[in-house]
Amino acid sequence: MSQPGGPDVRDQWNSRFSAQEYVYGTKPNDFLAESASSLPPAPARVLSLGEGEGRNAVFLATLGHRVTAVDASEVGLGKAEKLAAERGVSLKTVVSDLADFTLTPDTWDVVVSIFCHLPMPLRRQVHRAVVASLRPGGMVVLEGYTPAQLALRTGGPPKREWLYTAEELREDFQGLDFLVLRELERDVVEGKLHTGRGAVVQVLARKPTR
Ligand SMILES: C[S@@+](CC[C@H](N)C(=O)[O-])C[C@H]1O[C@@H](n2cnc3c(N)ncnc32)[C@H](O)[C@@H]1O
Repeated sequence: MSQPGGPDVRDQWNSRFSAQEYVYGTKPNDFLAESASSLPPAPARVLSLGEGEGRNAVFLATLGHRVTAVDASEVGLGKAEKLAAERGVSLKTVVSDLADFTLTPDTWDVVVSIFCHLPMPLRRQVHRAVVASLRPGGMVVLEGYTPAQLALRTGGPPKREWLYTAEELREDFQGLDFLVLRELERDVVEGKLHTGRGAVVQVLARKPTR
């Protein structure tokens, strides 16, 4: 990954996603699958940030949610649409760098961010906008790699500034109630680019209803 807001992110991800296979697989992320029963009931308005090839958006759509997937890579989102068609569900896809994407306030019931690693200050800017964009009772589901992942080398960005800690995310998502906020090691088997012991941070948080 390189600088957000420019052609580099898009080109790098387009190149990774040009493989015929789904490089993160077609099954949903484990933490998202575990959290699905805690989310607002379907049909909820769901936004998935950095959705890539669609495994998580398609999973949520099969549960009856109305899912919008945003990503800088049109190649990834093309595969997401193909996967959705194969599974008989529909998605709205938006090709955009998150630096340019407007998170409209008071709009979403759920915002999903799975291994969507953004550097500062974009990370803080997007996460603060996520809080504002949630409706009362709306929820964030996030999993990302922590700096401890640098030693494990089983996927994720190779630079500290792209990795997330629980403390950083607590500050980013200030104003939400945290149901889950933890760093842990787990076996991640999610496609060829994420396979092995992983050092992750997980967030499940809800916007207060008043
Ligand atoms: C590690 S992949 C994860 C994909 C997907 N969330 C999953 O778990 O299968 C990171 C994704 O974030 C997207 N991404 C990274 N930086 C981005 C940015 N600045 N704006 C939009 N998308 C971005 C990439 O295109 C890629 O699809």
